[in-house]
Amino acid sequence: SVSYDDEGPLDAPTILFIHGFPLNKSMWEHQVESLKESCRVIAYDIRGHGNSDASEENFSIDLFVNDLLHFMDALHITKPILCGLSMGGYIALNAAIKFPNHFAALVLSDTQCLADSSEAKRKRMNAIENIHEYGVEIYAEVSIKNLFSSESFTKNKKEILQVRDMIVGTAAQSLSYTLFALSERKGTCSKLQDIEVPVLIMVGKEDKITPPVAAQLMHEKIQGSLLKIIDHAGHLANLENPVEFNYQLKTFIQQLDD
Ligand code: MLT
Repeated sequence: SVSYDDEGPLDAPTILFIHGFPLNKSMWEHQVESLKESCRVIAYDIRGHGNSDASEENFSIDLFVNDLLHFMDALHITKPILCGLSMGGYIALNAAIKFPNHFAALVLSDTQCLADSSEAKRKRMNAIENIHEYGVEIYAEVSIKNLFSSESFTKNKKEILQVRDMIVGTAAQSLSYTLFALSERKGTCSKLQDIEVPVLIMVGKEDKITPPVAAQLMHEKIQGSLLKIIDHAGHLANLENPVEFNYQLKTFIQQLDD
């Protein structure tokens, strides 16, 4: 079973949000509030995250894409705007490449088209071992250091606590399964030229995990895409600077209507 929020008018354009790792749908609360007057806004928990079931099978980005398509079928959602942050962006990119006619537009935030380097894979394997040995709380402390901009540690304390709760609320097995799925994911850079729908790319200026240079690479490969660098933000641009993020998102959606 999949846990989701579904707000706003049913006949308005639909925007579907996919969260990053290791978070859940509540990371989108500022966007849901800001968009629900003008859009049908749906945010769901990926398998094994938030309140969605995990199941015993191994995770993969392909599995998450299949889950997304089944979820859309179950809710009779056709041609949504798909907005994914980081892991959510990997899922959105793979879904849009595999099912090009299923989406009206893409918003790719703090994500990339590159696969993991061998160094990144090694770090993920270490993280899996550390979660097993020292538990989820320590993993949360270490992760938080990389997720936020330095400024957010003084200005966004509430958001940092929320993110910590999201991480420690995720089962150790789901964390490990997802880390493995992320390490195994294939790059999508060579397929980006096939994307024909409008694309907005956003990235926090201080993003250390998927930095602006990674966003720039996608921007160069996706014809007609827009790139917006979000000031005062690290990897979680939508949480760290929701005012700017929502402004860019709303402007993009309005232009789709014109
Ligand atoms: C995320 O925010 O989803 C993760 O940082 C993605 C990743 O580690 O590649």
